[in-house]
Amino acid sequence: MIYLKTPEEMELMRKASDLTSQTLGEVAKWIAPGVTTRKLDTIAREFIMDNGGKPACLGYQGFPGTLCIEVNEVVVHGFPSSYTLQEGDIVGTDLVVELDGYNGDSCYTFAVGEPAAEVMDLCRTTRESLYVGAEACVPGKRIGDIANAVQTYCERRGYSVVREMCGHGIGRKMHEEPEVPNYGRRGIGAVIRNGMCLCIEPMINMGSRNIVIERDGWTCRTKDRKPSAHYEHTYAIIDGRVEQLTTFDYIHQAIGDKFLK
Ligand code: MF3
Ligand code: CO
Repeated sequence: MIYLKTPEEMELMRKASDLTSQTLGEVAKWIAPGVTTRKLDTIAREFIMDNGGKPACLGYQGFPGTLCIEVNEVVVHGFPSSYTLQEGDIVGTDLVVELDGYNGDSCYTFAVGEPAAEVMDLCRTTRESLYVGAEACVPGKRIGDIANAVQTYCERRGYSVVREMCGHGIGRKMHEEPEVPNYGRRGIGAVIRNGMCLCIEPMINMGSRNIVIERDGWTCRTKDRKPSAHYEHTYAIIDGRVEQLTTFDYIHQAIGDKFLK
């Protein structure tokens, strides 16, 4: 069942999404060698609570963090820990914030210091593929059009697309129907319609697309231990067009434009 949102609900989605983005902007200020991922998690949790929100991942099916932490070969769902960020790492921070009963969801993969050029290329391509997916998110088209756009963009550049994890609808729950895969055929899946809220979140690998889940039952990493990148925005379909509800502007204000080049 796909829940279409009323204009009033869309306003609440906007607010939850903005708090999500602002929180990642606070996290961004702390990204540096020597900082523990647990510190990032604490910064996020405190900022959310100070602003009347709820960290939606914390305690979700037993997940132990506010942020999902994705260092280098970790694809998704890593735990905050005593690991200290190292020069040359990339670290994804995936965040869901609930505010007034609605959820915003966004993820950004940061550079710690100066990662290798090929790793930066992976991040850039993954981020670009998110916007390529969003451009294919047009009312009247289908979810498969988004999925195919992301896949084509990344595979043409020599990267592989994780199959086991998908984007999703979002609203009162952090995961609603429909699933939004990052691969597949054009013209299949649900029709994109006014009132939908969708998270697009490419998870893209430098090596093979294969993943393994660690024995903690959560941490998902590449099988070949090559790096993986992940970016995510929450989108709404309103009045026949797609609106991006989350933004990386707060992040880019915090870290400057160095990662955009
Ligand atoms: N933010 C993730 C997503 O994009 C979900 C986190 S899973 C959790 O779908 F269990 F940690 F909450
Ligand atoms: Co998501």
